[in-house]
Amino acid sequence: MQDAVEKTPPTSPLASPEPWDLVADAYAAELVPQFELFATDALRIAALPAGGRVIDVATGPGTLAMLAAKTGATVSAIDFSPTMIANLNRRAVEAGTAIDARLGDGQALPFADDTYDGAFSMFGLMFFPDRAKGLQEMRRVLRPGGRAVVSSWAPFDRPFALVMESVRAMLPNLPFGEGKAPLGDPSAFADEMTAAGFREVRIESVSHSSTASSLSECWSMIQRTTAPIVLLRHKLGEQTWDKVARGVFERLQGALGEGAVTLTFNAYLGRGVK
Ligand SMILES: C[S@@+](CC[C@H](N)C(=O)[O-])C[C@H]1O[C@@H](n2cnc3c(N)ncnc32)[C@H](O)[C@@H]1O
Repeated sequence: MQDAVEKTPPTSPLASPEPWDLVADAYAAELVPQFELFATDALRIAALPAGGRVIDVATGPGTLAMLAAKTGATVSAIDFSPTMIANLNRRAVEAGTAIDARLGDGQALPFADDTYDGAFSMFGLMFFPDRAKGLQEMRRVLRPGGRAVVSSWAPFDRPFALVMESVRAMLPNLPFGEGKAPLGDPSAFADEMTAAGFREVRIESVSHSSTASSLSECWSMIQRTTAPIVLLRHKLGEQTWDKVARGVFERLQGALGEGAVTLTFNAYLGRGVK
């Protein structure tokens, strides 16, 4: 019994809906254009037949789901954060798009076997406590010959790496130990996809950048839109957070100066065929 307790891995704060609910509105308002760039890469890599069936697992506000629907695909989407799903539904109504959006766990998909031409999980499955189950579920719902694309972060560039370093000390069990994300090693990433039964597995690197006109603007955007930081802010309360935020800002200022800041995000996209 003691053994079983000791072997249970610590739960990441990003494996529960809470931080995603807290960040969902700002994420939908501010981050979607940036994440759409990676979703567009994933759709290109999948190279699906026109008008096929697509599932977006851990869809958030429907970033990839909405793009796929615009190409004429029939789209299902699932996320465990009610506020993310509410944002997806609002965006779909505004765009006049129909998406079968469900609230649920990506590790147990409420969809039939052999259904989809494409299955995607962009920066979502990487946070699942049981990634093998998540990958197996994506494969199960794909039709034979269907393609999966899953994404994760390559090591962060210096400005964002400094932010995450500052926060990691205050928020234990964040899944970015020593700067590396889950599925953040391309060869281990390929092995996990292969072990889940995918063939022709290929990992591609892609990067996208955005520039804020000043460090203060960049830091306020990060405080509104980055799930672990929004969670920490919520846990600490505004008064304590103000002090922490000033400390992080001074550290960033010391390292980066006060001018414009370019954040470059490097991602790995893993593709496999059922
Ligand atoms: C960084 S966001 C990515 C959202 C979207 N895929 C995108 O590319 O913009 C991560 C998403 O994964 C979802 N998520 C994390 N674990 C999940 C799980 N076990 N089941 C369903 N959704 C999950 C979160 O609620 C959040 O919406």
